Amino acid sequence: MLGIIGGSGLGKMPELKHSGYHNIQTPYGEPSAPIQSGELAGQPIAFLARHGTTHRLAPHEINYRANIWALRETGVTDVVGVGAVGGIGTAMAPGVLCVADQVIDYTYAREHTYVANNTESVQHIDFTQPYCNKLRQQLIQAAASAKISIQTRGVYGATQGPRLETAAEIRRMQCDGCDLVGMTGMPEAGLAREAGLCYANMSLVVNWAAGLADGPISLQEIEQHLAAGMQSVRQIILLCTQEHT
Ligand code: HPA
Repeated sequence: MLGIIGGSGLGKMPELKHSGYHNIQTPYGEPSAPIQSGELAGQPIAFLARHGTTHRLAPHEINYRANIWALRETGVTDVVGVGAVGGIGTAMAPGVLCVADQVIDYTYAREHTYVANNTESVQHIDFTQPYCNKLRQQLIQAAASAKISIQTRGVYGATQGPRLETAAEIRRMQCDGCDLVGMTGMPEAGLAREAGLCYANMSLVVNWAAGLADGPISLQEIEQHLAAGMQSVRQIILLCTQEHT
């Protein structure tokens, strides 16, 4: 079953034919919100609001371990992590959608693994390709069917937040090869891999990253791009669910 983790601007999926809310307890505590189950395009689906139902959790406060665990408990095998990001690469202007293919993790002090410090043999997961290619291709195909243009690769740089970056931090990330900057892409993707889930990221660019446009980042501009872009995200998810097996 497909699961969607909705970020800023995608707190709900009104198209979902609702069947129930599930309060899942995990060994790692509570997920951000009850998991909503239902049907979309005739397929079963689960939805989780990453920041909580009332958007109360900042990126560093999210219990990523509980979220991924709870989705797996619900029967989810494939997860699309949706989020808003800043654009760094020249192709990543505000309004652009991107299915990332790589990630660099700049976050710190987050619970980022299921590997316990007392286990007899430490597990190291392969993370060469951090995102599930099967699900990435399904998203790209769904965007093509909906005639929505999308960037089919990009390096996601995950920062700690909740503050936005300095211009120098963005210049460093540019040198590192980052195309996008967001605050929630990690440890989510790493945990999904540890949990054996197929995980893909779909990012909506809502602003130029710090220092790349004149003046400070405008929150009003962010809101405008969020509202418009998440409509496209919804359409893509709808088509992706339809095709999902
Ligand atoms: N930086 C980090 N996270 C973000 C940004 C940004 O510029 N825009 C939206 N999420």
